Amino acid sequence: MLIESGQVAVVTGAAQGIGRALAAELVGRGVSVALVDLHEDEVRKTAGELGDAAVPFVADVTDGDAVASVAERLLARFGRLDLVVNNAGVAPNDGKPLWEADLADWRRVVEVNLFGVLHGIRAFVPHLVAAERGHVLNIASLAGLTGTPLSASYGTSKHAVVALSEVLRAELEMLGLPVGVTVACPAFVRTPMVEGTREVVEFPQWAERLGDNAAAVLAAIAETLGDMLEPDEAARRILAAVEADRLHALPGGDPGGAARHRAQRVIDAVAAAQP
Ligand SMILES: NC(=O)c1ccc[n+]([C@@H]2O[C@H](COP(=O)([O-])OP(=O)(O)OC[C@H]3O[C@@H](n4cnc5c(N)ncnc54)[C@H](O)[C@@H]3O)[C@@H](O)[C@H]2O)c1
Repeated sequence: MLIESGQVAVVTGAAQGIGRALAAELVGRGVSVALVDLHEDEVRKTAGELGDAAVPFVADVTDGDAVASVAERLLARFGRLDLVVNNAGVAPNDGKPLWEADLADWRRVVEVNLFGVLHGIRAFVPHLVAAERGHVLNIASLAGLTGTPLSASYGTSKHAVVALSEVLRAELEMLGLPVGVTVACPAFVRTPMVEGTREVVEFPQWAERLGDNAAAVLAAIAETLGDMLEPDEAARRILAAVEADRLHALPGGDPGGAARHRAQRVIDAVAAAQP
């Protein structure tokens, strides 16, 4: 879908980080944007900074009724909807191996990262389907295409967002509906979320506890952290993928080659399965 002046978008998790950068880029291109976030003061402040075309809504994406209410109020106000950006997400606290993971933290990550996206789809996509136009942009992660160690709940939730996006696209295509779907899988982007990741990766206990191989994995992640995208550049690249109607978007590429390695394993398995 081409992004044009006069369109209307909704962006969840828009008070800061990638969501804010996407909203700013859209406003700059003449799009009216509903900024949805959990934190009232922050989302109002961000909307105020972006100007009259940015309208704040306070909602927790884990609450399906609250997201549905945003959809109703948004349609009443703007009368149309073109782009749905399911961006709100959280990182896990633990940074532990899977068998030691904290279940409450797992549930929090899955509630926000997976059910938050599902609630956005249920609330907003019927309006795109009824209008027979528009695009859904889900923000997953490169961790949704790889088996990144020490953040299993995050990676699992992001793999689920990739799968859900692929299914959504297949269903829309199957029904002949002209609504596009893109799932963005960024590597590291310089946002407040990443500051927490840095603490996990650089936490000194790992150096003592892990063998050489695992330490090398963490060192590679830390190196990537040192070379991350700025949010406005990530937003531009992600929106270019929407305009090109690409299903998967890797705005930061595949540093370390983990996504390529995983894809190759699947291709090798397919080849090995030939009679
Ligand atoms: N920053 C990165 O390196 C990176 C990389 C890959 C993917 N991502 C993904 O991009 C998205 C945005 O990440 P970010 O780095 O900008 O994070 P961030 O923490 O800087 O911003 C996230 C925003 O989402 C909001 N939010 C959190 N939980 C919410 C909820 N339940 N309901 C409504 N709003 C909620 C927060 O208040 C915040 O404003 C996330 O889905 C994240 O997983 C980030």
